[in-house]
Order: sequence, then C-alpha cells, then structure tokens
Amino acid sequence: MMKRLSVAIDGPAGAGKSTVARQVAKRLGLTYVDTGAMYRAITWKALRHRLDLTDESGVIHLARHTDLRLSTDQKGVGVWVDGEDVTEAIRTPEVTSNVSVIAGQGMVREVLVEKQREMAEQGGVVMDGRDIGTHVLPDADVKVFLTASIDERAQRRYQELMRRGYPVDLDRLKEEISQRDEKDKSREHSPLRPAKDAIHVDTTGLTIEEVIQAILDLCRTKVGGGE
Ligand code: CDP
Ligand code: CDP
Repeated sequence: MMKRLSVAIDGPAGAGKSTVARQVAKRLGLTYVDTGAMYRAITWKALRHRLDLTDESGVIHLARHTDLRLSTDQKGVGVWVDGEDVTEAIRTPEVTSNVSVIAGQGMVREVLVEKQREMAEQGGVVMDGRDIGTHVLPDADVKVFLTASIDERAQRRYQELMRRGYPVDLDRLKEEISQRDEKDKSREHSPLRPAKDAIHVDTTGLTIEEVIQAILDLCRTKVGGGE
C-alpha cells in the first residue's frame, strides 16, 4: 500500500526538501525525484552551449532534445545529461545563479513537468520542488510545505558549500537565496506557493531526523486512513 503513495514536498531554497525527501523515500521504499536537479540540468546544458538563456525558443529546443536521467542510490542522487554525469556540475554557483531564468520560462517548464508526471505514474514517489503540490501532482496523497527562517537556510547552505569546497560570504549567500526565492515566488508560471491542502512544517531549529519523522507520521496517517 505504501508503494503507491505520492508525496509532494515544496518550499524555498535550503528548507531541507531534498535531504528529507530522499530519506523519506528510502524509508518508505518509494522513488525520490529531485525536480530542482532537472531545472539545474537544463541550465547547465544551456550554459555549456553558451546559449542566450533568455532566448526562450533556443532553450525550449535544447530542453526537448535533452536525454535527462535521474537516479538515486546509497551515495545520493545522480544526474545525467545526454549520457554525461553532471551530478556535481549542476550544483556550482554559476548554475545556481542562472537557474531562475530558465525556471521562469513556461514552455520549458511544460517539458520538464511532463517528464515529472511520467516518473510519478510508474509508482510511489516522493517529489520535491516548488510547484509539486500546486501543479505537478495536484492529487498527491501528502503535501508538505517546508520552511525555515532565512538566517537558518543561509547558514545551512553556507555550511554545505564550505564542505563541498566553495567558500562563500554568508551575507552575500543570504542575499542570493532571498533573491532567488523572490523570483520563484513572483514568476508568472507555477510560482512557489503552498498548495491549499499542504501541511506547513517550519524546520527552524529542528534536526533533519525530526523533520523526517514528522513527514513519515503524515504518510502513516494517510495510509492508516486517519486525519
Ligand atoms: O536546492 P535548492 O533549493 O537551492 O534549489 P533546487 O531545488 O535545486 O531548485 C533550483 C531552482 O529550480 C529553484 O530556485 C527554482 O527556480 C527552480 N525549480 C522550479 O522552478 N520548480 C521546481 N519544481 C524545482 C525547482
Ligand atoms: O532541498 P533544499 O534546498 O530545500 O534543502 P537541502 O539541500 O535538502 O538542505 C540544505 C542543507 O540543510 C543540507 O546541508 C542539510 O543537511 C541541512 N539541514 C536540513 O536539511 N534540515 C535540517 N533540519 C537541518 C539542516
């Protein structure tokens, strides 16, 4: 029964979506789909091809002709673009600072949303992003909107980037995260916002395990048929 469950996790950058979504999926035996990685992958490829990112028809052509694959194993999430492993390459500051331009384009979103729905069709999923509960999987069994204070999200990202060898300035990072959130919230196509039936979980001050348990409880309640 757990197999068919679909879980949508949305929220701003650094709220903990991918970390907890991956663990929830693992523990419930579901497939984890990182939709942010898909927007990043198209951004990476457009930058590699030195495309003008604001040229929508160029970007849409590129998105339609991209073999994009995601995988999850013990080591984490793997991302391949046209057979090339871009798992690390899509997390660079250059991709991060350009991804909202691509994510703001309605027709590019349509291409990726179609892929996301196909992935969800095949079985139970935990999918994270910005528009999963509102647009990609409006009938998801469990919808979670994860948040945390901007200070905490910036601090989490700061530590993560330092660990991965990208030294950054904390204040500048905070500013960049706020700006990206603002673009995600104010764009015309599928803006970041909670679905009406989403459960809000403020993760400020919570450990990763506490957040995972809160979401697992919501999933169990759903499967048990309770409120
Ligand atoms: O990991 P982080 O929260 O920084 O970002 P991400 O989940 O990898 O997503 C990167 C960007 O892709 C977001 O800032 C959005 O602009 C876009 N995105 C989106 O528009 N819709 C989604 N479902 C997922 C990501
Ligand atoms: O996917 P999203 O951008 O929402 O966040 P993430 O990449 O999963 O998490 C950002 C960082 O916060 C990771 O390094 C996590 O280890 C850390 N973190 C967390 O996710 N949740 C907490 N309750 C505390 C820390």
